[in-house]
Amino acid sequence: MTQNTPWYKDAVFMELNTRAYKDSNGDGWGDLPGLTSKLDYIKNLGVDAVWLLPIMPSPLRDDGYDVSDFCNIFPAYGSMDDFRTLMAEAHKRDLRIVVEIIPNHTSDQHAWFQASRDPNHPEHAKYRDWYVWSDTDQKYQGARIIFTDSETSNWSFDELRGQYFWHRFYSTQPDLNYDNEEVQQAMLDIVKFWIDAGADGLRVDAPPYLFEREGTNCENLPETHLFLKRMRKFVDEYSPETLLLSEANQWPEDVIEYFGDGDEMHMNFHFPLMPRLYMALAMGDRTPIEAILARTPDLPEGCQWGTFLRCHDELTLEMVTPEERQWMWDTYSPDPKQRINLGIRRRLAPLVDNDQRKILLLHSMLLTMVGSPFLYYGDEIGMGDNIELFDRNGLRTPMQWDESVNAGFSDAPTERLFAPVISDPVYGYQKVNVAAQETDPHSLLNEVRHLIAVRKQHPVFGRGDFNWRAFSFETKAVVAYQRKWEDTRIVVLNNLRDLPVKGWIPETAEKFIDVLTGETVLPGDFSLPPYGFRWLQPVGDKANIPSGPNAPQPGYLGSDKQ
Ligand code: NOJ
Repeated sequence: MTQNTPWYKDAVFMELNTRAYKDSNGDGWGDLPGLTSKLDYIKNLGVDAVWLLPIMPSPLRDDGYDVSDFCNIFPAYGSMDDFRTLMAEAHKRDLRIVVEIIPNHTSDQHAWFQASRDPNHPEHAKYRDWYVWSDTDQKYQGARIIFTDSETSNWSFDELRGQYFWHRFYSTQPDLNYDNEEVQQAMLDIVKFWIDAGADGLRVDAPPYLFEREGTNCENLPETHLFLKRMRKFVDEYSPETLLLSEANQWPEDVIEYFGDGDEMHMNFHFPLMPRLYMALAMGDRTPIEAILARTPDLPEGCQWGTFLRCHDELTLEMVTPEERQWMWDTYSPDPKQRINLGIRRRLAPLVDNDQRKILLLHSMLLTMVGSPFLYYGDEIGMGDNIELFDRNGLRTPMQWDESVNAGFSDAPTERLFAPVISDPVYGYQKVNVAAQETDPHSLLNEVRHLIAVRKQHPVFGRGDFNWRAFSFETKAVVAYQRKWEDTRIVVLNNLRDLPVKGWIPETAEKFIDVLTGETVLPGDFSLPPYGFRWLQPVGDKANIPSGPNAPQPGYLGSDKQ
């Protein structure tokens, strides 16, 4: 890493659910000591940083995103000491840990809300204005409802206080009032708390909704950006290595605002790219990816996209058109039970028919296209999902370590597990598990591990420019692009179709090395197998590319035109 390259630009991230990873004490719930015992596995996969789903006390109405105490650990997961041990063990292995902060809302069980809603509470005067209260439920009608399957209004009536409170998510998650300076300060204190506890980064949940203003959609407001810049300023002064990773699920032109001039969030997920990878794959046509990347602005210095294939939430279809959403639903969720809100609650492997070629092709794009990649625990072995579980919990089932009872996740009696392990004939732990895949050199686990390892040998993927305008493949079946950083360039070719595709590589170099296989590829004819991909590094780049009407453009690699 060069001195000025921030660590997150070269990092491969993995998101995981502590509750589902490894149970150390046989109570049926994964915990921090259990996770600590699995750090070697994570490190060995090639992961550099782990993002933990919420670990704070919560009544779990939104699976931990409804926090009842921001400065503590959910008892079943362990204690603050366990967290400090996790941090120390992670750092010994050169692994970083990113935790959640959830600035927009709390649980309705949080002491702040209890004091705010109850006029007789001894601390009512202090907390009265910490939430957004109103005598009417008619304010801010321009704000959309996010959890469309469960909520009909962003207002709920509180009997005790005799007023409505505002909530962008579940009605058990009242929104904090950011017009109150004390709320802003309290959230900065929470940021400080987790930095002091050793966290290397904070994933900032749902940042677009912090403020409300009449006549707007209450998203991405200037006041929100001012507060996020204040948070960044605090972090820069207090602990400049700490990453702020933002979850603004917005269109590229709105998301760019979350980076500010390099003085707001360090990273933000590229939400609109994700569904378009699936769209392009099912269509066998790169157009959706091309269109969204054309709309993706350059980032300020020091900023980075976070890219992902799946996460703990539904595969969100908020950032597509209504027609595209319907097409995605029809294509990827034939059973209406697989749909939730504006998305699809399925894991990676089931989404692509458990076809290892497609899973690897998606990883090829994830690991080479733009930004820093985020894996979702269990997808590296092709885990399935359980549609019968509430909400999005079917995507958050116990990690499948081996074929023993409870998948090696827990020694508890099976009926005491926090959720059943996946045990269907295709994705069940008896068949899909880490131990079985470790010993098979061609398992998904080992193939994914290999792709990650090769990505990490080439910093160009995390740091380089992205360019594909120079390519002119007739067939839209191929997604081809060049990444370039300093003197290095690598060209990536991905075949989206279940058919071989032929092409031609002009003489822009003496030869190319496929960095995945070590094979030499000479200029001239080439072909990609169905769903195949190649990551090609030129050797002996030619300074004098032939001129004339048919000469390739700089950076040009190939065409299916002969
Ligand atoms: C985004 C989180 O990813 C999701 O799981 C949660 O339900 C909402 N924010 C509300 O906190």
